[in-house]
Amino acid sequence: DTKIIKIDKSNIDKKLMIEAGDIVKSGGVVAFPTETVYGLGANGLDENAVKKIYEAKGRPSDNPLILHISSIEELDDLVEEVTDLAHMIMKRFWPGPLTIIFKKSRIIPNIITAGLESVAIRMPSHPIALELISLSGVPIAAPSANTSGRPSPTNADHVVEDMYGKIDMVIDGGSTGVGLESTVLDLSGEVPTILRPGAITLEDLKEMIPNIIQDASILHKDVTPKSPGQKYRHYAPKAEMILFTGDIDDIVNKINTSTKELILSGKKVGIMATEETKDKYEDGVVIVSGSRRKRETIASNLFKTIRDFDHADVDIILAEGVELDNIGMAIMNRMTKAAGGKIINL
Ligand code: TXA
Ligand code: MG
Repeated sequence: DTKIIKIDKSNIDKKLMIEAGDIVKSGGVVAFPTETVYGLGANGLDENAVKKIYEAKGRPSDNPLILHISSIEELDDLVEEVTDLAHMIMKRFWPGPLTIIFKKSRIIPNIITAGLESVAIRMPSHPIALELISLSGVPIAAPSANTSGRPSPTNADHVVEDMYGKIDMVIDGGSTGVGLESTVLDLSGEVPTILRPGAITLEDLKEMIPNIIQDASILHKDVTPKSPGQKYRHYAPKAEMILFTGDIDDIVNKINTSTKELILSGKKVGIMATEETKDKYEDGVVIVSGSRRKRETIASNLFKTIRDFDHADVDIILAEGVELDNIGMAIMNRMTKAAGGKIINL
């Protein structure tokens, strides 16, 4: 059975957290909140414990995991070297929604890296995550706490939906803030590369890393990604999803005409709208993801919105795209994947 505990992140119940830490220590699996999405955590140095994560998620074994630490000192044992650049980046962005890829040290089990020579490390800023890592006394391996292929969980209900009965404990710490998974930055090779965009944006990182590049697969589904996890169908709603990009007035018009046609052909249509456009839709199940003027709100609600369309049982989702700068890149990366590459540029 899965035990569900509620923890208030601004008044953490130490006794319950010790229980959670003990589960991790003794080889169990605990889902916990981070500032990005919920993670499915186990002792990252214990192969058998990590196996349970792959089983619970149904995750392909060639997709490596992120190790979560609670202080920068814990890094030394886990990686081969920490460059000056890595030091600068960690100082600026940790704790926070940034994962860094390093050359791995010998103590990292193969199951973590899926056989790669590099390892992904992140120090989250969420107080419950930090407390869990520190109480368990080990680096915590944690992918997003969803069934492989499904949208990442941004609240405990999502976790329970996917993981109930498959893991030892869920720590319900409320909704996560950022809502999209961490930026993955590869500092293990010649050229610093963003493998997965997130709330720490290309623009943020460029200030310190002028020669940084983005993996070409981020928005193009025909390019093979450098990050193994990026090649799988992800964030998939149950319904088919089509993403519309271009001028917002054109998007609204096109979604309105498409919705009418689809309804005539007997389909239940969902529209992923925004605060600014929601009143312009005449038919369909309209769900607002957030505000176009404050795209962090769209990031924060995106995965929940996709799950809400599942619960509304629509046959097809027509979704508004956003601009590609700053957090827009991360939003469009997830939306492109959710749509399985079905994009209409207007
Ligand atoms: O925000 C997050 O990062 C969340 C929370 C729980 O911390 N975790 C998360 O983990 O998103 P996961 O497993 O769903 O995504 C990890 C990504 C995958 O795309 C994986 O392929 C990539 O990081 N990755 C892990 N190790 C890697 C490595 N050594 N080289 C390249 N990519 C790596
Ligand atoms: Mg994931």
